[in-house]
Amino acid sequence: MVLGQVGAQGMALVGCGSAVPAISVSNQQLSERVDTSDEWIVERTGIRRRHHGGTTSGLAIEAGLAALERAGRRPDEIDAVILATTTPDQIVPGTSAVVQDGMGVTGGAFDVNAACSGFVYALTVAHGLIAAGAAERLVVIGSETLSKITDFTERGVSILVGDGAGAVVVEATDGPGQLLSYRMGADGSLRHLLYCDHGGHLVMNGKEVFRKAVSVVVESSQGALADAGLTADNLDLVVPHQANLRIIGAACQRLGVPEEKAVITIDRYGNTSSASIPLALVDALESGRLQPGMHVLLTGFGGGMTWASAVLKWGG
Ligand code: ACO
Repeated sequence: MVLGQVGAQGMALVGCGSAVPAISVSNQQLSERVDTSDEWIVERTGIRRRHHGGTTSGLAIEAGLAALERAGRRPDEIDAVILATTTPDQIVPGTSAVVQDGMGVTGGAFDVNAACSGFVYALTVAHGLIAAGAAERLVVIGSETLSKITDFTERGVSILVGDGAGAVVVEATDGPGQLLSYRMGADGSLRHLLYCDHGGHLVMNGKEVFRKAVSVVVESSQGALADAGLTADNLDLVVPHQANLRIIGAACQRLGVPEEKAVITIDRYGNTSSASIPLALVDALESGRLQPGMHVLLTGFGGGMTWASAVLKWGG
């Protein structure tokens, strides 16, 4: 479903930041707790390590402040904090309130929960506020502490999850801006494939999620590219949700994009849900892969099921 095409008022991404907890857990360490092996995890998922610890608000504050600093902006210049998370610190208040206070932001604050698609959803919400003239400058953050809702005696999910946060500062700009197009979608009848009850742990049907993920990522990416007037050949960089290296490979192949154009961080961070795309974006920026003028595809999927893709033309 097409939910939006970018109108006259553009949005620029003017600063990025990220944060991960200090503790990094290797496959070998996990294999001492559950019946698995480094070899199996690397071959089936591409994951070698992941970070565990911290709080969703603490990681978000660190990433958000780093993004503000890179943008050269002050907290009192921010109209609102939009926090994508599926692992809030508390049920009430929204974790974004804690982040707003911790960052010293004087504007509004709200959470978005679209599971692993949350960051791209939040970016489209930010664009909507900017395009409507309701906000001039926002901080959009994806932050997760999945380790706190994971059963580490069960090998299905525990080998996948990691904790971390990534943030961007976005602002209104004259002209078309950097966000060229986006599509988002959901199929709530598939919510049984990945869920966590109050006080419980993540439950996942990995095979079914895998199967569905590839088709929705490809479909929504093709839709967003078409809305931007581009084809897969025009893409310089793909920043996919980091759930499984094999999902990224299959999606790239079906999209007709060489896999080398995909940013890969899953080996170091595992699946950090809504934090994975902004973490990968920051990684690409810091490693020098992301350059001005590049066409970049952000694409993700997750529990719900939800999915979302956005096409950017990276700025200076
Ligand atoms: N270590 C060793 N063996 C394992 C493990 C493990 N951790 N997990 C499963 N196995 C075994 C199974 O028991 C099975 O053994 P059998 O052949 O003797 O029956 C064999 O390995 C194959 O199991 P599958 O479940 O078929 O493994 P698959 O290749 O599908 O990989 C995985 C499982 C990694 C979970 C994959 O299905 C996947 O990545 N799915 C998508 C997950 C995802 O994207 N989730 C989205 C979000 S997750 C989140 O939000 C936190």
